[in-house]
Amino acid sequence: MISSSGAVPSLSLTPRSTCSLYPSSVSPSSASSLRSSLSGVSYQSLHLSGAAISTCQKAKTKKLKVKCSVSEPLKVMISGAPASGKGTQCDLIVKKFGLVHISTGDILRAEVAAGTEIGNKAKTFMNEGQLVPDEIVTAMVNARLSLEDVKQNGWLLDGYPRSYAQAQSLEEKKIRPDVYIVLDVPDEILIDRCVGRRLDPTTGKIYHIKNLPPETEEIKARLITRPDDTEEKVKSRLEIYKRNAYSISETYSSITKKIDGNRAKNDVFTEIDSILSQLQNKKRKVIALARESGNGSIQDSSNENSWRGIPTRLNNIPHSREIRKYFYQDVLKATQRSITNGRTRLKVEINIPELNPEMDVYRIGTLMELVRVIALSFADDGKRIKVCVQGSMGEGALAGMPLQLAGSRKILEFMDWGDYGALDTFVKIGSIGAKEVDEEDDIFILVAPQNAVGNCIIDDLRAMTDAAGPRPVILINPRLKDLPGSSGIMQTMGRDKRLEYAASFENCYFFRLLYYAGTQYPIMGALRMSYPYPYELYRRVDKEFGKEEYVLLSTFPERPTSDEVNNAFLGKPRSGEVKSNSGIWDEFRGQRMVGFVSSIYQWAHEKGKIR
Ligand code: AP5
Repeated sequence: MISSSGAVPSLSLTPRSTCSLYPSSVSPSSASSLRSSLSGVSYQSLHLSGAAISTCQKAKTKKLKVKCSVSEPLKVMISGAPASGKGTQCDLIVKKFGLVHISTGDILRAEVAAGTEIGNKAKTFMNEGQLVPDEIVTAMVNARLSLEDVKQNGWLLDGYPRSYAQAQSLEEKKIRPDVYIVLDVPDEILIDRCVGRRLDPTTGKIYHIKNLPPETEEIKARLITRPDDTEEKVKSRLEIYKRNAYSISETYSSITKKIDGNRAKNDVFTEIDSILSQLQNKKRKVIALARESGNGSIQDSSNENSWRGIPTRLNNIPHSREIRKYFYQDVLKATQRSITNGRTRLKVEINIPELNPEMDVYRIGTLMELVRVIALSFADDGKRIKVCVQGSMGEGALAGMPLQLAGSRKILEFMDWGDYGALDTFVKIGSIGAKEVDEEDDIFILVAPQNAVGNCIIDDLRAMTDAAGPRPVILINPRLKDLPGSSGIMQTMGRDKRLEYAASFENCYFFRLLYYAGTQYPIMGALRMSYPYPYELYRRVDKEFGKEEYVLLSTFPERPTSDEVNNAFLGKPRSGEVKSNSGIWDEFRGQRMVGFVSSIYQWAHEKGKIR
């Protein structure tokens, strides 16, 4: 143990005060069962220290005074270079929001201090400023995240994930934060902060010899320096951080909040506080929405915990009522989450057979029912919804519209919109165009807007979204690919701009069945995305007694390319993949229901799956 003079101790480490290896309710016996679950996860023979447990127990009872009042608690990740202030901000976040602070650095330091097996394994890496192997840290975090207090109070992950593999491990388990906070501090400041940092082993409080000196001589005398806080080691830690930061930030790009960490700690916290408070309010709204629209439990509406998996028998036509209801709810939840999170230009793409206009089992009633579920759910929340179907094209005898939409406006008008007179009060039916946007409208649902041969809907659509401003516009199964003009000549004028505009809508929901190349039977698998979760690739597996099941193969932060899908089905590792823009993938990204590349076909053929 050393004083604040700056000499490096042999090795004496302590966790921060808010370190939470176990919740306060964990008894020695449950702690030991956690140990065994830890060793069962992925790393052999992990033994966690009782010292670490009791230190953290003490700290948690002290810190977790303020309880998060929402039923669906916050999930927060905080990241940043060494000494960017993660631990300092975590203390403040825990005080205000009552989240369970899971700091991998603290947990590891506690293990080192207690001389456990994990600690002994981690010590050399930590002292050198290197990352501890993924399997050790991941097993620790998984075990910690599975405990009840985390589910009750929400979590604050500090220092994890710190590598691409760690981020992927969370994605595979569908563990996603609501927000990914990145503290941004210039390198030279970071080095000064590290070299001047001191820890109080008694309270866990973090000091700095210049910026935040200890309050008394007594405290000063007992302060210690972390062995990895020398200038040389900080530089190495910084380099490792930068090397990994990009691949991780890609995973969370849509929910990243970068914050200037080079300000007084209270100023930094004010910004974090505002972000988290807003998020918490949005979550409350989603919960209220779910309750009011009778759409199941709170968890149902705001996370995927209760997701039942992909329903089977999707090639049985017509789809059963349960299957239809399942997809309506799946789409609704993703749409609600997107709107609650402030998204305004949304796209739902769902291609189950009954909603795929290129299959002869297409049913317009299913599309209309889906639209009604979404519209009524938002109307129940007091929102005024405009459901829009594009008008007919051309004049008089030449008037026509895309087949998929023929008669759909009339169907919408005749449909049963409930006993409370929602139609014409909370739900209005309109067309697509700027003049359809009224001041009272809150949300616009556009039913399968599409380009037809010789007619481009995009200009009307753009005029409408311009008029709608920040109000949400939801496209249900749009088909905005450029099509040839009626003369057979491709419309090229303004094509790039049109396509760019079409791409500005972000998917809040995507579901597509995957078939072998050139066929629509049997189903090979499915690709699903439900905002804000990643794309999930499933393989359909035949089971005994004519049953089937969808098994998760892989997840992707963005819509996967055909190569990525192929590789996942073939069990090939992902690293080193080169994205290709094959013509087939262009088809796949687009609207056509096509099969998969021939390699899949070949693979299936070789395996005797198809003849
Ligand atoms: P870890 O403890 O997580 O270290 P780190 O990420 O390098 O971060 P620090 O704890 O150094 O800094 P901090 O951002 O918390 O800043 P603090 O608030 O203390 O990990 C340590 C090691 O464990 C790693 O090197 C690795 O070996 C291993 N490890 C951990 N997680 C791992 C993982 N997932 N995978 C593999 N290995 C893993 O502040 C720093 C100083 O600045 C203090 O003195 C403070 O008072 C001061 N300060 C803070 N905010 C301000 C401000 N706004 N203005 C002025 N001063 C400030």
